[in-house]
Amino acid sequence: MISPEVTDCTGEAALFTLSQEKPGDWWEIEALYDLSFAPGRTALSSYRLREDIAPVAELCRVARDETGILGGAIRYWPVRIGQWQALLLGPVAVHPTAQGEGLGAALIRDTLERARALEWARVLLVGDEPYYKRFGFHRLEGVEMPPPTNPERVLGLELRAGAWGEVTGEVTRSA
Ligand SMILES: CC(C)(COP(=O)(O)OP(=O)(O)OC[C@H]1O[C@@H](n2cnc3c(N)ncnc32)[C@H](O)[C@@H]1OP(=O)(O)O)[C@@H](O)C(=O)NCCC(=O)NCCS
Repeated sequence: MISPEVTDCTGEAALFTLSQEKPGDWWEIEALYDLSFAPGRTALSSYRLREDIAPVAELCRVARDETGILGGAIRYWPVRIGQWQALLLGPVAVHPTAQGEGLGAALIRDTLERARALEWARVLLVGDEPYYKRFGFHRLEGVEMPPPTNPERVLGLELRAGAWGEVTGEVTRSA
């Protein structure tokens, strides 16, 4: 279990513990996402890939401080590209008062390691390459998220060597 030490806005050390999301966490996490993303986030095309599909429970993780306050959360969904399966990373968000202290990186690294241990081969996301390249994500050529996604923001990471090699086509819902 990773418990990254971060500094809160009072300057005192805050210890966050990562754990698997529980059913009762759902709406608290939704509120954090509402706070962290622009209004209308659920209208984004990536949300169409999640509709009526269960997230990958083992990879949905929360970071709480010693008093139980939610500092960050990450979720993953399964998706398909033709015959291939992939993980869709996100949403991931850190509360504005805890940003920039490594909590986002801790959530991402922790869950990518778990995804590798669960033998997922490849991960996909829609996001800013300048942030995600530190985890090994790079732009995917020929992998098409539902429009109107900017292709420059479609990024992938191999958990197994060569896993994105021949994968091209439209990303679709898992079921
Ligand atoms: C993106 C987010 C999850 C990162 O979490 P965090 O705990 O703040 O990030 P970390 O502390 O691990 O990393 C901070 C570093 O990432 C950089 N960074 C954060 N967001 C970035 C972005 N969108 N593009 C480029 N760099 C970014 C910071 O400038 C900082 O850089 P530094 O290490 O050179 O100082 C968080 O900022 C957040 O919740 N943002 C709002 C929601 C969001 O945009 N989610 C991602 C959707 S793709």
